[in-house]
Amino acid sequence: MPSGARLPTALRGVGGIVGSMKPFAEWLSTTSPSVFLQNHNSWAIPAIQSIHIAGIAIVLGSVFMIVLRLLGWAGMDQSLLQTARRFGPWLTGALWLMLATGALMVIGEPVRELITFSFWLKMFLVALATVIAVVFQRSLRKHDRQWEEILVKRGTTKLLAVLTFLIWACIIILGRLIAYDHVWGSWSPAAKA
Ligand code: HEM
Repeated sequence: MPSGARLPTALRGVGGIVGSMKPFAEWLSTTSPSVFLQNHNSWAIPAIQSIHIAGIAIVLGSVFMIVLRLLGWAGMDQSLLQTARRFGPWLTGALWLMLATGALMVIGEPVRELITFSFWLKMFLVALATVIAVVFQRSLRKHDRQWEEILVKRGTTKLLAVLTFLIWACIIILGRLIAYDHVWGSWSPAAKA
């Protein structure tokens, strides 16, 4: 996005809200947990980051196996419910791990994280993908026969499964883009700071 380009009003609003996080981020960076992480920056942040990255493999691996089952490309010796029961707890556990390690990275480097467009877009997509996962698992537990016999065969179900996987892939790309937020041009408050 070229820096001079005009933005839709709604997105300008989002940019403004993200930009207004700066005083909060600056305050957070003076708190003792943040100061502790900053003082041990040489090992603490890389260690937390490594756990966060390991969590990505579990999240993506679990989602991938459920998506492959929905597409009918793998795990056909198990029912959809069995597949979800097998990989669902891994997904839930890994998401809690990502939340904990992600929060620690925010506390350790608040100004770097909280005023980036990539971080907030990523958080929005994490929330959206989590809601989709919860709704899917609840619906599957309640209507497992209907899922097995009718829904899994529908083209729209397969399309939604692929779209969900793409949302998770975008989350990974946005996680990396936090460090390169300037790519968003004028959408990024961090580029102006
Ligand atoms: C659940 C809440 C989450 C929070 C609060 C969070 C927060 C963060 C933060 C603060 C960073 C550091 C960015 C930087 O300074 O460069 C980061 C990096 C990253 N996150 Fe997350 N994250 C969360 C979930 C996820 C999920 C679910 C995924 C993917 C499935 C993900 C993928 C990544 C990736 C790929 C990076 C870049 C790692 C690197 O190359 O250094 N995050 N995340």
